[in-house]
Amino acid sequence: MIKKAMIPAAGYGTRSLPITKVVPKELFPIGNKPAIHYVVEEAVLGGIEEILIVVSRTKNMISDYFDRSLELETFLKQNNKSHLLEKIKIPEIRIQYIRQPYARGLGDAILLGKSFAGNDPFAVLLPDEVFLGQENIGLSQLVSQYKKYRKNVLGLSRVEEQKLSSYGVISPEYKNDEFIKVASIIEKPKSNPPSNLAVIGRYIFNPTIFHFLEKTKPDGSGEIQLTDAMNAMLQFEDYDGVLIEGERYDISKLEEYIAANQYIQLSEDAVNRKIM
Ligand code: G1P
Repeated sequence: MIKKAMIPAAGYGTRSLPITKVVPKELFPIGNKPAIHYVVEEAVLGGIEEILIVVSRTKNMISDYFDRSLELETFLKQNNKSHLLEKIKIPEIRIQYIRQPYARGLGDAILLGKSFAGNDPFAVLLPDEVFLGQENIGLSQLVSQYKKYRKNVLGLSRVEEQKLSSYGVISPEYKNDEFIKVASIIEKPKSNPPSNLAVIGRYIFNPTIFHFLEKTKPDGSGEIQLTDAMNAMLQFEDYDGVLIEGERYDISKLEEYIAANQYIQLSEDAVNRKIM
């Protein structure tokens, strides 16, 4: 039912400079795999069949990563290293790319997917948030919620007070056992956040979002904010918030990026102990 997903990956990664001068933050390694690889795997597990990645001119390494390397495959085969072919297998999913010519924000990046989405509901996964360790968390949870009510769905996590100013934070209207109905969203509240429920980069939208994105004016820094379009849309359509449980890492925060790598190291150690 939700077959298409967009992954916006065109930003400058200013929070992670200087490395992001040359290495896209989406390719930061977590273990030996880049962050975006985990996000594509999450999309596949959520039932997605087609992905549109929004890139910018310095992000060609992303499309290189998801392409086959025939040269490397031949080398491995000819040098008795065929067992490593498994390691360079790319996720089995159709990936397309579109360039965002101007850094006009997340809302503008999503708008570039208008013809890709067509009349279908679609998912958005922000690649600086990764979920590790469990297969059925993240997008799969949003897809199950969408299947029940066909409403827009937002992935939420409870975040410590001091970190809320880095996120969109929702004001809940009510909560039941299945979901939290969203009343409104405040983008990066500097003070008095309306709750501790942060928007953590997983969304399912009905295609009406494009109508609202087209009407959204750029903010003071010239960016079209997805949150502004969502707030306008909330006057007409419901958003169900779903709590994403499990190990979530925001890799644009150094301490969480390091913790994500520690998590992978510990899981590999555990696997190796079982093998030995
Ligand atoms: C974006 C969204 C914000 C959301 C966050 C999640 O902000 O605008 O609402 O909470 O992603 O990572 P960004 O991190 O791109 O500044």
